[in-house]
Amino acid sequence: MSEATTPETTSGTGNEVQLIHIPGDQSLRFLTEGYAFGRRRFEEHGTDAFRTRLLGRTATMLRGTDAAEFFYGEGRFRRVGGMPRSAFHSLQDEGSVQTLEGPAHRGRKRIFLDLMTDEHRAALAHRTAEAWEEHWSRWVAASEPVSLIRAAERVLTDAALRWLGVESSALEQRARTDEFHAMLDGAGAFGPRNWYGRRRRLQTERWARAVVREHRASGSGDVDTPLGRLLQHREAGGPLDEGTAAIELLNLLRPTVAVAWFVGFAGLALHRHPVWRERVVTDDHQLFAFTEEVRRTAPFFPAIGGRAVGAQTWRGVTFAPGDWVLVDFFATQRDPRVWPDPDRFDPSRFAVPEHHHVIVQGAGSMPDGHRCPGEPATVDLLRVLTRALARATWDVPAQDLRVDLRRMPALPGREGLLIRPRG
Ligand code: HEM
Repeated sequence: MSEATTPETTSGTGNEVQLIHIPGDQSLRFLTEGYAFGRRRFEEHGTDAFRTRLLGRTATMLRGTDAAEFFYGEGRFRRVGGMPRSAFHSLQDEGSVQTLEGPAHRGRKRIFLDLMTDEHRAALAHRTAEAWEEHWSRWVAASEPVSLIRAAERVLTDAALRWLGVESSALEQRARTDEFHAMLDGAGAFGPRNWYGRRRRLQTERWARAVVREHRASGSGDVDTPLGRLLQHREAGGPLDEGTAAIELLNLLRPTVAVAWFVGFAGLALHRHPVWRERVVTDDHQLFAFTEEVRRTAPFFPAIGGRAVGAQTWRGVTFAPGDWVLVDFFATQRDPRVWPDPDRFDPSRFAVPEHHHVIVQGAGSMPDGHRCPGEPATVDLLRVLTRALARATWDVPAQDLRVDLRRMPALPGREGLLIRPRG
């Protein structure tokens, strides 16, 4: 990498950042460098902001927790037009909470926040532990290697469906697991892997619409399950239309299943640092530290983008309405000024819990901004499954365990960490 760059000097309060201009469209470099794309440029130029062209548009990339706080604050950046269409259609999709702003967004977001009470979260964690036990004993009996990510996806799909109050056969659970996997796996790709995920998503949407229709017709949508809550939600005096309710049902399911990707990286960390196995089983603080370090280091969303709603300024860098801005999560979580020796897996960084926080699920206010409402549930589920994994006996067949940072989303090993459950 060596582009002719132009620094832009700003004057002001002393907290200013130097905005570097990198000429030419960098899309191909972003695709070939993957997660490292932003990090390399921030480090090479010693800055937290650079402007360039991506996918034919001017883009400004920012690094840092304060950049994330700015980006997530006060409705400054809308999400429509902020993500490549390929990722947007694989994940949240048209009409979802993520596409809304202001009062409409706050109203829809309540669905998710109301399901994150201690009671609902405990029920989801309980379902997950139960599903893990059931599946694990089957895998032990089969004595075949399984991909840890795929296995955890299966557990989480079953658990989330039961938690929501959606009855499903083993065959349906398997189909849903495969569809969610295809969507997640395809979200960060351009081309066949992405097209496959989006094709599978159409099947899931048909299924989700049928669930909404049937539960409404039978009156079971009125009961006090998480699905019932979603179906009872009212906007502008009426319930959500079938398509929108189906999209939000998928927005509860798919990201819950996505926690499996963190579980895959937790498995890799337990394998590489076996001293942590006993610690995470016996000590809640150590479990917290370990799972936070997994969330910090596991490469998942490389960045999140949005369009400026009005004129904005951050550390002397100005944005006009409509400007495209991305916060680089990967570079932020591996910023050596905040996380010394950032590529080293070291849970002891979190010995003081409030020391630094992880922003891989967004920042700022959950009700008022686009910060992930599922973050508390993610943390619960990751802890439940990390502890279960640390307690269990399994070995790791010979395989290439490198993490290819050019692939988005990245996997531990080539298949999401192959393990052989033993007991
Ligand atoms: C692997 C675990 C997860 C990761 C990495 C993750 C990541 C994220 C991120 C980065 C955002 C912010 C997007 C933006 O700024 O536009 C987000 C939003 C969202 N997440 Fe999660 N999430 C996870 C789990 C969950 C879970 C378990 C749920 C639901 C139960 C969930 C539901 C949502 C919803 C509905 C939004 C949109 C919020 C809004 O636009 O206001 N996520 N997630």
